[in-house]
Amino acid sequence: MILVTGGAGYIGSHTCVALAQAGHEIIVLDNLCNSRADVVGRLSRLCGQEVRFVQGDIRDGPMLDKLFATHPISAVLHFAGLKAVGESVNEPLAYYDNNVNGAVQLLDAMRRARIKTFVFSSSATVYGDPASVPISEDFPRAATSPYGRSKLMVEDILADVAHAEPEWRIARLRYFNPVGAHESGLIGENPQGVPNNLMPYVAQVASGQREYLNVWGNDYPTPDGTGVRDYIHVVDLAEGHLAALDYLHRQGGLLTVNLGTGRGFSVLDMVGAFERACGQAIAYKIAARRPGDIAACWADPSRAQELLGWQAKRGLDQMCVDAWRWQQSISRGGGG
Ligand code: NAD
Ligand code: WQD
Repeated sequence: MILVTGGAGYIGSHTCVALAQAGHEIIVLDNLCNSRADVVGRLSRLCGQEVRFVQGDIRDGPMLDKLFATHPISAVLHFAGLKAVGESVNEPLAYYDNNVNGAVQLLDAMRRARIKTFVFSSSATVYGDPASVPISEDFPRAATSPYGRSKLMVEDILADVAHAEPEWRIARLRYFNPVGAHESGLIGENPQGVPNNLMPYVAQVASGQREYLNVWGNDYPTPDGTGVRDYIHVVDLAEGHLAALDYLHRQGGLLTVNLGTGRGFSVLDMVGAFERACGQAIAYKIAARRPGDIAACWADPSRAQELLGWQAKRGLDQMCVDAWRWQQSISRGGGG
């Protein structure tokens, strides 16, 4: 059985589906600070199994001890955490507590229970402002926000744990920009308030919830002047976790890999692709650069392909079609 922390959230829920499809039994632990309990029912439908759900916090050691003592858990996929870069600048302690202290509490409880297989949601944010693209795993790391620093810190803690106790099997997966949703339209990303990220914002413009998109800068040194990112379909990302878990079972040790497509698309490319998907124009205005943004960021995904035999399969159009289907489902009051 696999424990999925943050399994009611965006990436965790899609990974639960992939795990269940591969025959794994799963149990979700989530405190619902950024998700809703009704995801679990939809997840059970998609997984074809009653998904066990515990509402609780990864910082609650006694609860974790009980959870590990009462379930045959062999591995932990750790998605739970806070992820808003801007918010982390204003509330750094909340980020260090949730993301760093939370990971330490979880790892310590695993150690007490002698469970030593761990997959961590890291981020391309650990590369800061890269000197060049594509970005490979040996690029220098740098944090540009407390959120990013919390990811760097947990990556380092995991390296220390792997060094001290080589029997641990640990994956540090650096996600690029996850977008899209499950093709069923039953699960997806449903941010509270004004979306920070591009894709949910564009989807809300398409659905009429917002008037227009602000394009944060068109004077970057990129082909059309707007920011370029490596957008990866969330189902491809979910499948990357399965491949990482298989690798850990085969090889053990400490694995660090990028999960991206290896292709960069600009903000205007994304707007164009979404327009094709939803069949209508997306209104946008060019605005000033967003502080802290970088010009371009995309992965060198060759290590994941070589070590995991994994590569992203879903293209830009599918990302947008699936995101649009999900947005319509939310607008009808169906999801999220
Ligand atoms: P999400 O907010 O949708 O999911 C995280 C889940 O964790 C939520 O359901 C939330 O309720 C839960 N949670 C938060 N703190 C918790 C705690 N202390 N105890 C128990 N549950 C808690 O976010 P997501 O987009 O699915 O991201 C999952 C992970 O991937 C995060 O660690 C995030 O930092 C990382 N990541 C996300 C992105 C991205 O763009 N979405 C990119 C790179 C890395
Ligand atoms: C993408 C592009 C914006 C919104 C963030 C985190 C990163 C990772 C993924 C967790 C940029 C532009 C955006 C808008 C716009 N998360 N944009 N108008 O900034 O690459 O990465 O999410 O680990 O850590 O920093 O993603 O979706 O916010 O922006 O023009 O309203 O879209 O400037 O070029 P980003 P994003």
